[in-house]
Amino acid sequence: MCGIVGYVGKEKALPRILSGLKFLEYRGYDSAGVAYVKENKIKIVKEAGRISALEASLNKEENTYLGIGHTRWATHGVPNKINSHPHKSGKFTVVHNGIIENYMELKDMLIEKGIEFKTDTDTEVIPALLNYNYEQEKDIIKVINKTIKMLKGSFALGIICDDDLDSIYATRYDSPLIIAHQKNGYFIASDVPAILNYTNKYLLLDNLEIAKINVNNLIVFNSNLQKINKEELTFVGTSDDAMLNGYEHYMLKEIHEEAKVFKDTFNYYVLENQFKETMPNLKDYHDIHIVACGSAYYVGYIAKYLIEKYASIPVLVEVASEYRYKKNFYTKDTLVIIISQSGETADSLAALRQVKEDGIDTMAIVNVVESSIAREAKYTLYVKAGPEIAVATTKAFLAQTTLLALLTVKLSKNNELLKEFKGIDKNIEELLSRDYLKYAKEIYNHNDAFFIGRNIDYALCLEGSLKLKETSYINAVSFQAGELKHGTISLISENTPVIAINTLDSIRNKTISNIKEVKARGANVLYITNENVRDNFYNNIILIPKVADIVSPILTVIPLQLIAYEVAKLRNCDIDKPRNLAKSVTVE
Ligand code: AGP
Repeated sequence: MCGIVGYVGKEKALPRILSGLKFLEYRGYDSAGVAYVKENKIKIVKEAGRISALEASLNKEENTYLGIGHTRWATHGVPNKINSHPHKSGKFTVVHNGIIENYMELKDMLIEKGIEFKTDTDTEVIPALLNYNYEQEKDIIKVINKTIKMLKGSFALGIICDDDLDSIYATRYDSPLIIAHQKNGYFIASDVPAILNYTNKYLLLDNLEIAKINVNNLIVFNSNLQKINKEELTFVGTSDDAMLNGYEHYMLKEIHEEAKVFKDTFNYYVLENQFKETMPNLKDYHDIHIVACGSAYYVGYIAKYLIEKYASIPVLVEVASEYRYKKNFYTKDTLVIIISQSGETADSLAALRQVKEDGIDTMAIVNVVESSIAREAKYTLYVKAGPEIAVATTKAFLAQTTLLALLTVKLSKNNELLKEFKGIDKNIEELLSRDYLKYAKEIYNHNDAFFIGRNIDYALCLEGSLKLKETSYINAVSFQAGELKHGTISLISENTPVIAINTLDSIRNKTISNIKEVKARGANVLYITNENVRDNFYNNIILIPKVADIVSPILTVIPLQLIAYEVAKLRNCDIDKPRNLAKSVTVE
């Protein structure tokens, strides 16, 4: 996934474009580039590496008032200077977020027409095709309209044509793109944080719409080339949502917002122990499928245990990249829930569309307002986590877990359970106030770590181990505690870090037996539990408040997040932008 920023107006373009790109680095950061108009010509500057490398190659005070910029997460073509965006062919210069699935056939067709390519990217076919079509038709809007209908896959595009250096053209299909208006000019951007320092007013382009912006105005065309008006939206939040606000990392800042996030999410759906109309009335579903990726999938895993326990509805949980390619057994009495922080994850969006085509009820649990998944599901339930910048999700995970717990109450038809949520924000604040460094010191100098637990604790093990993997690059693995003796216990040796999670009364002693098995083989056990026990089967213990099972996961995840953060810090990892990752994976 990549980040796009463009600007045209009366102010200098480069400072605005670079500032915006820095807020989008979480979308991808292996190379960056900018194209801008100078003395009536397009100038392109591109660099491998972070945006800081690009910035060092530019004179920000350059007298230019129109430009498009891009920060890349490579999908086709290694992350080097030549493959980075913008790409120019003939008269057209383009920045692109997404994947062109039919780029090879288009590239073959264009090569046959004598067009040369310089890069290994899918993107380069876009300016080449625009230029090819421009040879037959000189209306740029018509050329863009014709070209994008030849593309298969996903795209958000910023386009400049040599024959109209006063304008930026923008269009999208499935990849997000916003347009923002500031008094002296217009922006295009992949996401709102890029423009928050200048304005909080924006509009969303819909699929295949085409926008033309210049210093004085904005025109939007639909795919039938009719001019249309778009509703102006106001971003709720300030630039500090996208700023560090005194924290060393976004990940830490966002974890420390979790008490507020819990309250905002809970209060959005509940008032005086009754559901508000924001929680939809649902029919009696026979079964539920939960489909998501990464941490969102682990939220679904938690929800499976909660819904089956409290609402007695069978739940299938599957990763979206598997779900969309396997035979699924759903009926008109199945509800398919898609969980996604960004609302743009390609596999999750594709799964949603596939299920909708079969006429099945869909529900989106998302954080980003007006994201693709949010806009296409039958029911859309927003978490109120606010913009999450760190690649490793934390506050959104907690908000999703909170919302799925509320949905469980709704499905159980037992509103009495809402009382169990009282005071959880205080429990969160207390857990956030603790010091987890000493536990991190037991883990950071190992290359392997194991998480063990049963039932809902195993789901939390999955999330805890992913947090550790993606922020500190430690090979953290989760095992169902009961499975250890079937092979995996062979991995335990002297001083191996084992994080054991044990919060459920019903299976507490069973898990303790499993912990003793690894302790007996030399493991260094960190015991995370909600009931103290004087025994020597652990090396360290984290005691979390004992609350009802329906809200317990909201608390258990906090030490896991902060331990991962402290370990990554001790290992001097790039906590907010881990290697090889991007915040939202809008490619398959
Ligand atoms: C979580 O820390 C990871 N960054 C990743 O697994 C993420 O949860 C996954 O890509 C799903 O993203 P989404 O919630 O935006 O769909």
